[in-house]
Amino acid sequence: MTNKDNRLTTLFGNPVGDRENTMTAGPRGPLVMQDPYFLDMMAHFDREVIPERRMHAKGSGAYGTFTVTNDISQYTKAKIFSEVGKQTEMFARFSTVAGERGAADAERDIRGFALKFYTEEGNWDLVGNNTPVFFFRDPKLFPSLNHVVKRDPKTNMHNAESNWDFWTNLPEALHQVTIIMTERGIPKGFRNMHGFGSHTYSMINENDERVWVKFHFRTQQGIENYSAEEAAELVGSDRESSQRDLFNSIEEGDFPKWKVYIQVMTEEEAKNLPYNPFDLTKVWYKGDFPLIPVGEFELNKNPENYFAEVEQAAFAPTNIVPGIGFSPDKMLQGRLFSYGDAQRYRLGVNHHQIPVNSPKGAENVCPFSRDGAMRVDGNAGSSINYYPNSYGAHNSQPHAKQPALDLEYSSVYEHNFRDDDDNYFEQPGKLFRLQSDEDKQRLFYNTANEMTGTTTRTKHRHIYNCYQADPDYGKGVAAALGIDINDVDLETPDYFHNM
Ligand code: HEM
Repeated sequence: MTNKDNRLTTLFGNPVGDRENTMTAGPRGPLVMQDPYFLDMMAHFDREVIPERRMHAKGSGAYGTFTVTNDISQYTKAKIFSEVGKQTEMFARFSTVAGERGAADAERDIRGFALKFYTEEGNWDLVGNNTPVFFFRDPKLFPSLNHVVKRDPKTNMHNAESNWDFWTNLPEALHQVTIIMTERGIPKGFRNMHGFGSHTYSMINENDERVWVKFHFRTQQGIENYSAEEAAELVGSDRESSQRDLFNSIEEGDFPKWKVYIQVMTEEEAKNLPYNPFDLTKVWYKGDFPLIPVGEFELNKNPENYFAEVEQAAFAPTNIVPGIGFSPDKMLQGRLFSYGDAQRYRLGVNHHQIPVNSPKGAENVCPFSRDGAMRVDGNAGSSINYYPNSYGAHNSQPHAKQPALDLEYSSVYEHNFRDDDDNYFEQPGKLFRLQSDEDKQRLFYNTANEMTGTTTRTKHRHIYNCYQADPDYGKGVAAALGIDINDVDLETPDYFHNM
């Protein structure tokens, strides 16, 4: 907008004569076609809504600054980590997962924790959650998760039975389900939760040596949660509690901060680990792989315009920089396709031009792609648009290549991870035993509360899973559900769909 005194124009700058009265044939007659301002304004209004994100539709975003506090250059050559004290601009978006764009914030759910760092070597997106694990280990199941946490196709209401039928049929989901059913399932606000990259990623140093890493972001505001009762009451009066808390604290200059850590595992250690280091349903124990401090980020600026900067933000796990790489985690590999694909549909093929998404920290941006709908950045003008050429354009940058990854298993097949590892219950059992007695009671209560409306078969299946993790977990959930544990077949269950 360049019009300083707010005089109305069309989108193309033509002064608008009458803002209030649509042109009609006579004072009481019908509209005529020759009121282009009316037609354009209405047509644009009709198209104001864009598709919401399929998951994580309801969210809040803010800009911030990442600062390196510790030298990790022995692990990575990524320039963002090149020296202590170095600062990089960033953008964060937090979200609930299941709720639609207008859903209430204080719902029991995972929270998204998506970070975009505008580094000098282009954008690095770390699209994580507030939990270190996930429900399953194969991306083919992801659309089903979406279907069960969203609305029932017939009733258009949430369907607890579909949700729990799906979760309990996947014993590997118990770890993630347990976390959500603890008090951490409803954080007080986005400021009061940790973040996790969750997947195993890799780091590559100047000598082309690779290590496996997990990213952790620890809130400096302290973990704070709502009980189920507090949240239910709050939702009745404020559906925007997390947005309000984040926005107001930044507006008031109380900038939230997270400390950044990594866990590091060598390739050799990964080969000898008793469990699959690329399994997203498992954590790496901190006793074995301690947190290594890296830096800190603070969020210090609210977006000026929610739609432009938050709704149109696009995070993709494919956006990585030299020194940071992927891992064989099947789920991460599946995500590498899904995000760009969703964003080409949701925002268009040229969504990299939207300011919040553009690589504004990069010293050198020279993409090859041209044209496409809504190309508004000059389309690289008359520069060379083919390769190879005699002008040195579009040359490879070998320093961005990653060292070859030797695979232990090279047969191409639909490998069933259950044949490799069926130890589903050790980690949720340990997590259960870490809870205080009071927290265990809350876990039982929250579980029973959330299972309201599910069938006896599904309840028994969940009790069976909990019992495998720890007999007291199974007994506690059974009691909270009003089920006699002796009625549950804990030896030879035929509960599972096809295992
Ligand atoms: C959003 C797919 C697993 C975190 C999305 C979106 C899709 C998607 C299509 C919407 C993207 C957009 O329209 O911009 C998938 C698939 C998964 C998967 C196929 C597994 C195979 C995960 C996991 C995490 C995660 C494991 C965290 C560790 C997020 C976050 C967002 C998101 C934080 C919202 C990003 C934002 O704020 O814009 N996911 N997802 N997803 N996903 Fe996933």
